[in-house]
Amino acid sequence: MHILVTGGAGFIGSNFVQHTVATRPEAKITVLDALTYAGTKASLDGVLDRIRFVEGDIADAALVDSLVAGVDVVVHFAAESHNDNSLANPWPFVQTNLVGTFTLLEAVRRHGVRYHHISTDEVYGDLELDDPQRFCESTPYNPSSPYSSTKAGSDLLVRAWVRSFGVAATISNCSNNYGPRQHVEKFIPRQITNIIDGVRPKLYGAGLNVRDWIHVDDHNSAVWAIIERGRIGETYLIGADGEVDNLTVIREILDLMGQPVDAFDHVTDRAGHDLRYAIDSTRLRTELGWEPQYRDFRSGLAATIDWYRDNESWWRPMKAATEAAYAATQQVVAAPVAGGSGEEH
Ligand code: NAD
Ligand code: TYD
Repeated sequence: MHILVTGGAGFIGSNFVQHTVATRPEAKITVLDALTYAGTKASLDGVLDRIRFVEGDIADAALVDSLVAGVDVVVHFAAESHNDNSLANPWPFVQTNLVGTFTLLEAVRRHGVRYHHISTDEVYGDLELDDPQRFCESTPYNPSSPYSSTKAGSDLLVRAWVRSFGVAATISNCSNNYGPRQHVEKFIPRQITNIIDGVRPKLYGAGLNVRDWIHVDDHNSAVWAIIERGRIGETYLIGADGEVDNLTVIREILDLMGQPVDAFDHVTDRAGHDLRYAIDSTRLRTELGWEPQYRDFRSGLAATIDWYRDNESWWRPMKAATEAAYAATQQVVAAPVAGGSGEEH
């Protein structure tokens, strides 16, 4: 099987490539990645001689057409992926997530190639903390941010190309991933690398927001289950029952790194900050027999901390610019009272 992996130099895509090379040595892999600020070939260290790496844009129709023509499957990870960036400058999100996905869909349509679309649970909006329901495949779309709305739009393009043009596609919507090779702009790596640098972790608002954490390898094993056994035209939600609020995550990281659990700063909250995400992955488990392997968040977090300690050369080049961008928009605030957003000082 020859697979085209878009975004294979990013967090989840590079772990997918590393995992695939290790577990499916017969697979032929081409990576298409624009190497934006979020992508680095260093994430493919150890496998670059086993794959073909093409630096380019998923919105480049001629390039995409020539690559799609030669493969059996496209797995589409490439995206602008960070909510905070989408609030500061939404345009790249429209261009990559919508125009880029459109370009890939037109190519797989022309060449009759199987397509798997990687998406997020954020397309469903957010849940109240006490809502007994979790997101499932029939939950209506209700995205909050430029990031999640462009991902929602890309999912809808896929659905239309399946129905109108018979494209052989599947979609997966996964919850928050953690693990090695995640950009230091994201919540967990930002705090780990701050602590390594002697800087206090930064918590948005009161930290009551809940994310449903899943290890990146569990996400990717689910993607493989869907590529191999998923029903064409279907959507599968991927989640590992990992709901934790941000305050608990930050305390856990501090504790695992030998710091007092209250040694963090509250900073300006994110505009439109989604309160809670939670996934019901019953369809994936019952239909495709998938189960997560990483069931203990604390030990997964400990292994992730070890990875960042051992791989400073990977993250150091991106750290200063990331923190400078955050410093321009975020100030330390007093600990918010319940329901409030905190006072700046
Ligand atoms: P990431 O930001 O770490 O990586 C994105 C990659 O795409 C980078 O290598 C970047 O260079 C590349 N890219 C960006 N624009 C491109 C373009 N126009 N052409 C070619 N390449 C381009 O993102 P990630 O966290 O690995 O997310 C991968 C996918 O998974 C995204 O579609 C995201 O929406 C989805 N997802 C992420 C999470 C999460 O927790 N990170 C959860 C659910 C779904
Ligand atoms: P993030 O990793 O950006 O993922 P997403 O926005 O896709 O959920 O953020 C995860 C949660 O952590 C989210 O509720 C925002 C919060 N957060 C912080 O509290 N501090 C931070 O420094 C960052 C980057 C995020």
